[in-house]
Amino acid sequence: MTTITDILETMDYGPAPEARDIADAWLARHADGFGHFINGRFTDPADLFAVTEPATGANLARVSQGSAADVDAAVKAARKAQPKWEALGGHGRAKYLYALARHVQQHARLLAVIESLDNGKPIRESRDIDVPLVVRHLYHHAGWAELMEDEFPKTRAVGVCGQVIPWNFPLLMLAWKIAPALAAGNTVVLKPAEYTPLTALALAQIAAEVGLPDGVLNIVTGDGRTGAAIVGHDGIDKVAFTGSTEVGREIRRLTAGSGKRLTLELGGKSPFIVCADADLDAAVEGVVDAIWFNQGQVCCAGARILVAEAVAERFEALLKARMKTLRVGDPLDKCTDIGAIVHPVQLERIRGLMAQGKAEGAVLHQGTAPEGCFYPPTLATGVAPASTLSTEEIFGPVATLTPFRTPADAVALANNTRYGLAASIWSENVNLCLDLAAQVKAGVVWINCTNVFDAGAGFGGYRESGFGREGGREGMMAYLAHGTPRAKKPAPDLPAPDPLPQASTAAGPEIDRTAKLYMGGKQARADSGYSYAVAGAKGPVGLAGLGNRKDIRNAVEAAASAGAWGRATGHNRAQVLYYLAENLAAREAEFTERLRSFGAGRDAAREEVATAIRRCFWYAAHADKMDGAVHQTKGNHVTLAMHEPLGVIGIACPSAHPLLGLLSLALPALSMGNRVVAVPSQTHPLAATDLYQVLDTSDMPAGVFNIVTGPRDELARVLAQHDDVQGIWYFGSEAGCVEVERDSAGNLKHTWVEIDGARDWAGAPGQKKAFLHRATQIKNIWVPYGE
Ligand code: NAI
Repeated sequence: MTTITDILETMDYGPAPEARDIADAWLARHADGFGHFINGRFTDPADLFAVTEPATGANLARVSQGSAADVDAAVKAARKAQPKWEALGGHGRAKYLYALARHVQQHARLLAVIESLDNGKPIRESRDIDVPLVVRHLYHHAGWAELMEDEFPKTRAVGVCGQVIPWNFPLLMLAWKIAPALAAGNTVVLKPAEYTPLTALALAQIAAEVGLPDGVLNIVTGDGRTGAAIVGHDGIDKVAFTGSTEVGREIRRLTAGSGKRLTLELGGKSPFIVCADADLDAAVEGVVDAIWFNQGQVCCAGARILVAEAVAERFEALLKARMKTLRVGDPLDKCTDIGAIVHPVQLERIRGLMAQGKAEGAVLHQGTAPEGCFYPPTLATGVAPASTLSTEEIFGPVATLTPFRTPADAVALANNTRYGLAASIWSENVNLCLDLAAQVKAGVVWINCTNVFDAGAGFGGYRESGFGREGGREGMMAYLAHGTPRAKKPAPDLPAPDPLPQASTAAGPEIDRTAKLYMGGKQARADSGYSYAVAGAKGPVGLAGLGNRKDIRNAVEAAASAGAWGRATGHNRAQVLYYLAENLAAREAEFTERLRSFGAGRDAAREEVATAIRRCFWYAAHADKMDGAVHQTKGNHVTLAMHEPLGVIGIACPSAHPLLGLLSLALPALSMGNRVVAVPSQTHPLAATDLYQVLDTSDMPAGVFNIVTGPRDELARVLAQHDDVQGIWYFGSEAGCVEVERDSAGNLKHTWVEIDGARDWAGAPGQKKAFLHRATQIKNIWVPYGE
């Protein structure tokens, strides 16, 4: 006889499928294939490729492969539409964004079903997470458009934006990209991923339905070749990309020196830290949301679980038990927790990585999954920190589990990655949470929560997870320009300086010493053993050390070990910079004479020194005023947006204004807690080398400010290639701008390149708060609040 207990124990969910008729009818209407959406209408379908449903392998639709000509037509349409769209004003654009949001709401079910069919994600997620967040993003940015004139005065749109997005959140990534771009007055050419183009095409129809002006939003479908055509098109002013770090690097190289603005949101291998005093049951649910959400195909997935030794065994048991309850299968079933992997290619990739992991000794604990394009939830134990499973982005429902001893170990393990997108921290101790949050290198930190997103907060990474933020005010900044566009003035290439043996007197009898380099708080002879003659107005005025690759490496090493500067309080840094100003002022006459020796007139030389001193005060004053923000995000959270230094910034200085050019760049970097390795004006380096004594007497900690004189372009390239340098600012030739940005792709440095001579360093353009933003990155920390 069957008892009630039997029934309870054997009871299972019945099927609860979401009806797909609405999506099937839409697909049937486009059985001949989809064209691109260019200039407000769909083109004739051409060069079609199949889009499949990963859960079944069935064909869903046929979509056009965008050619260079299609991209060109889209860019031209966007270019033509842009001035009018911007001229509509914030309120004018806001009305369209509100309308888009409303119409997306009206079509929510259609969009959710198409998304689940196309991507394989569970309908519970597309219906309850993706589409609502799309709507929220559109409304939030309609709000920014409305407030443009008040909140972003003196800004203008960047122009035409080329946006390339991945397949893991097809419609949500589209919303993240287009909403700020359109709100700010830009027009857009967007390419969805080739696996998942359907909701983008549905949205294009919605855009037409709301009457968005022709050419404002253009959608071109296709694979990486289409993406590359957009990114490389001359008519694009800004590129925004989300996807793999590998392609992000390619895009960095492709756009190098083009003057195109670039934001990259790339891969991750985010730590999920469970401290000994964490609420373990809550943390287990956290893991479900961290790595088993969206089949683990989430750039910020908590893929590396780090758990305190004291609770590791218990936590592992709880996780394994929870894993067994996860239902893997039909994405359209409302009871499904984990749907299909986006494409068989991706499934093979996951399997390949797992086989590698096993060969390296990992033990896999797995739930079950049906046949087909599915992968079971998986926990890998016994993984070494340097192993494949610990280091590679798997982009599947796979987490590693690693115990740690002390919170300091947890931080070391958490930061032992080339990425820095996100981190989750679980502890009931608020002090510990915030202490760890400050130490992890990640653009987003979730405290006692994970994978929470909101349009009101910035999202984006540190390190090789890319740069730029999406969401909130921070995200708007990426789509806005200041002032009028500057015409590029060609800068002459500087010939490499002629090497002279150090201590040579060949440059003239009046030269009595070779200025050395400055690193680690000490003067050092150039490794090459050579110096070069510095020309003045009336012949040679001295010799400067001819720095080389090794000198740059030594200077970077000194800078890298001076990290305490970034952790010092703004007040402390300000004190050092004020002191620098004082000491510079004490030597005003000496510096004025030095500048005169290069040919500056008396008044100009005096003015340059006086301005340099004022700038020291100005940036000292800012050191403790770069407040972050408290974002109003989802109900039971506050999100703290903190400015953090980039780390080590390499600076290749402008040629003119030998003192101001150096200080105008070094000061904002230092003020924000960065360490600097500067290559001063190649032609007039002696004003910089005169600074050594000022630095020595200003309490500047050793290694914080390092100076290497020598061939600008050669030294800049070494800085751009160095993995311990996080930012590179270069002011030089057009060819140098290309090289520096291309070389920066290795560890995806923040770059700022300009043609030498294009900016008036003595005037207002030489001192700006914007430089402080360039010297910082924002960490968004989500803290439970008011629950
Ligand atoms: P992907 O980076 O190749 O694709 C992302 C987008 O970039 C797609 O729209 C693609 O067509 C486009 N694209 C590809 N090559 C391009 C090029 N040279 N120029 C311009 N656009 C280009 O990512 P894929 O191959 O789909 O996935 C491979 C791996 O990348 C995944 O297993 C995962 O590890 C990672 N990934 C990370 C994502 C993230 O959000 N961080 C998103 C998607 C993938």
